[in-house]
Amino acid sequence: MNDDFHLYLDSADLAELQACLPHPVVHGVTTNPTLLRRAGIGRSAVPGLLARCIELGARRVQAQVYSSDVDGMLEDAQELLSHFDRGQLVVKIPATRQGFDAGARLIAQGVPVTWTAVYAPEQAHFAAQLGAAYAAPYLGRLEDAGAGGLALIAQMQALVAQRPSSGTRLLVASIRSREAYLSLLGLGVGAVTIPPRLFAELLDHPATLAAERGFLADTGALH
Ligand code: E4P
Repeated sequence: MNDDFHLYLDSADLAELQACLPHPVVHGVTTNPTLLRRAGIGRSAVPGLLARCIELGARRVQAQVYSSDVDGMLEDAQELLSHFDRGQLVVKIPATRQGFDAGARLIAQGVPVTWTAVYAPEQAHFAAQLGAAYAAPYLGRLEDAGAGGLALIAQMQALVAQRPSSGTRLLVASIRSREAYLSLLGLGVGAVTIPPRLFAELLDHPATLAAERGFLADTGALH
């Protein structure tokens, strides 16, 4: 399977995820504490939820640390990692001063890391410099803040692309529309995470479904 682009589902709601998985265009599932709260999932249920996603065909799952200090982040990460095979779980860490420190230590142990809540190009560059698997900027929230989200993400993409040996991909989150998704594809970002409702919009084109209905009707009329 071509590994050029990683599409993730951004949700902690098992029913929503089950409506999308398994599917060959989906690389994995991303979560964070806000998505867990919205889905009513407690910390102790996170490994089980993500293990279920792997059973459903996710190749990788992502869970975020809960602490804001380096030791706490490392402890959270080790607890999460203990439930998964090597490489299956990507540890998400906010792109704070402490977060870069904790993440670099995990990368040194061979753990894939996503630095998340990336709002500025230099944060994406730090992520690539340190060998992150992903750096996750929030397009919708950048646009909400009037920050010219797409232009900033284009700048981040250029910086990350300067360091191909890092293997770092932008994993753009906070995607609210098909138009935003298409703009990101145009920028050549390496990964995007989308809510399941947008997945349905992208996969179930009404005109394609109408054409299929026509083909099925005509198939029935064949002799
Ligand atoms: C990212 O990790 C968040 O879960 C999500 O993409 C934020 O989306 P929103 O800004 O639309 O809430």
